[in-house]
Amino acid sequence: MEMLEEQRENWGSRGGFVLAAIGSAVGLGNLWRFPYELYGHGGGAFLIPYIIAVFVVGLPMLIMEFSLGHFTQRAAPDAFAHGHKRFEFVGWWSTILGFVIISFYAVVLAYCFSFLWFSFKGILAGGELPWAAEGVEGVKKAEEFFLNTYLGHTPGTALGSIRWNIFWPLLVTWLVMYLCICRGVKLVGKIVWLTVPLPWLMLLILTVRGLTLPGSIGGLAYYLNPSWPELAKATTWRFAFGQAFFSLSLAFGGVMITYASFLHRKSDLNNNAAVICLADFGTSFVAGLAIFSTLGGMAFVTAQAGRGVAVNEVVRGGAGLAFIVFPYALAQLPYSAWWSFVFFFTLVTLGIDSGFSITESVLAAVVDKTGWKRNVVLPIMSVLGIAAGLVFITKGGLNWLEVVGNFIDGTWGIAFLGLAECIVLGWLWRIDTLRTHANERSDWTLGRWWNYAIRVVIPIVLGTIFFWSLFEDLNQTGGFLLDTEGNWILADCVGLTIVAAAPILAIGISLIKSPLRAGQYPPRPDVKNSNLCGGRFGGLAAFCLAIASAVMLAVLVLKPGISDKFRSYFLFQSLPIALMAIITSNYIIDKHTGDYSFPSWPARWAGIIATLDISAFIAVTLITVTQKATTGQAIHPAPEHLSATSYLILGVMLLLIIGGLGWCFYRAVAAAGKNTAVQPQPDA
Ligand code: PFF
Repeated sequence: MEMLEEQRENWGSRGGFVLAAIGSAVGLGNLWRFPYELYGHGGGAFLIPYIIAVFVVGLPMLIMEFSLGHFTQRAAPDAFAHGHKRFEFVGWWSTILGFVIISFYAVVLAYCFSFLWFSFKGILAGGELPWAAEGVEGVKKAEEFFLNTYLGHTPGTALGSIRWNIFWPLLVTWLVMYLCICRGVKLVGKIVWLTVPLPWLMLLILTVRGLTLPGSIGGLAYYLNPSWPELAKATTWRFAFGQAFFSLSLAFGGVMITYASFLHRKSDLNNNAAVICLADFGTSFVAGLAIFSTLGGMAFVTAQAGRGVAVNEVVRGGAGLAFIVFPYALAQLPYSAWWSFVFFFTLVTLGIDSGFSITESVLAAVVDKTGWKRNVVLPIMSVLGIAAGLVFITKGGLNWLEVVGNFIDGTWGIAFLGLAECIVLGWLWRIDTLRTHANERSDWTLGRWWNYAIRVVIPIVLGTIFFWSLFEDLNQTGGFLLDTEGNWILADCVGLTIVAAAPILAIGISLIKSPLRAGQYPPRPDVKNSNLCGGRFGGLAAFCLAIASAVMLAVLVLKPGISDKFRSYFLFQSLPIALMAIITSNYIIDKHTGDYSFPSWPARWAGIIATLDISAFIAVTLITVTQKATTGQAIHPAPEHLSATSYLILGVMLLLIIGGLGWCFYRAVAAAGKNTAVQPQPDA
């Protein structure tokens, strides 16, 4: 496949790109969601699925997205269309989900702007924060301030009237995002030199302050003491993967594909991806240290004053952590208004570059398809974004924000979309083209294992999470879609409609003809010539095996009444059959993928179906094995102190982050030295 050579805007420098990608990845998700996800799903134990999600699945996928964007020099939809017109919808699917995300992400940013303003007013008022009160009462006051005074919150699914006090900060958010990207990516590449280091500096200050407070270690015990039984729950793994994808800006929005499309032709891809993963992981981990050490400090101060408030009495997830618990904790400590200002300033600067990365990506997708001018599309998009955000700034908006957020980064959003990306690129494209492309310009290279990671390992992992969560959703005691009395659960229905509508709408958009693209991607000559197609017979055999395995698994899942003998027979026969199909399919694909040959379609589909079979097999087995083990408590009880295991976890994490970044830096310097010795690189 030829590489598109054209004059496209670019970042100006490697640093600009790396920082912009880090800016997109490191956002509200790191400070607002990660610490609570970790606390709520097994403490230190959560790091196991999370590290797998970031480094085993996230990193290879990030390299894949970088390579696709860089190779095609196009935003997500066009990048996928480069493989085949039929794949374009995958890019639109992620772009549409990106638009949904930015419509609520901007609302959370608007909350941050408001709280920044309240803190500023607090400083002017001599340090008095509007939610300040002592003891457990203080938490109630902070909660009342956020939910009643600020949001005018009503529980349930009714929307209610629009809150104009949130509308204005929402307008400010979109205006700031607009100003950051209206001049194109060169300016973005400069702005991120401010919006990435600044929140890091603030976070560092918050962390040092937190860790030096008396009682901080007690807080860290809540964060890091592991609760191993949590690992047996599907939700722990699903949240770990959902958080990792959200945090790395992977799959959603096609941000990383778009950003790489603006990267200079000679730039490194693999090492940059590793740096971004490590930086994102490191920021999340340190953010947790900052949050929980401060909560520990709060517990200590309140205990000293004889009205002790333990960390687990107050801590809660989502918006609650950033806008209720942490403001409360700060209000208990000296110089509260100043620290509150620092905290919300950190959130605003963390979030703004993530926000505009999604906007930029949706914008680039539309511009690449239609050829319309950026400065026409951007204002229209901003107005549409504000309009969509109105739902979330109504009195019932917070509920919907949580519903939509959970659906998008839960089972149906990322696991599904990530799976689709890997299947299309791994089995239906020539994944080796992307590997070669990445290797040709990177500080270190990828072996053939990467092809199998994208084609087999990652789809199996994502597929397992998908099926595992799906089976759990369907068996939920409270009911899924329908409650126990047979009434529709509105929130589930709307959430599912949004995630289901996204791929359908995406197919619709991809069918619209693009004036720019006529004749741009001529079909490969070999694909037209059926004589060059290889592995027809073997492919068909593998396909039949994959279907047989799928039928067995479907019977198992859909007919729970069948006898135990049949159950175990079907279960354990389905695995070797699917494995045979996958091995045959891989063999055919590797053998017949060449400049003048291509593997038969049944061979490819055999691989795809067999991958899903194996995922379903693992999910069914896990459900059976873990059924007894899932009665553990979600939030671990009050720990006395940081356990020895937690110290070990802390040490290993710091080693991973610092050692990993050091290694990447070393490879970049070594490669730069080699390049200048052999051939000067003008723009790198
Ligand atoms: N990665 C961002 C965060 O952690 O806050 C959120 C995000 C940005 C999600 C861009 C998706 C995306 F496309």
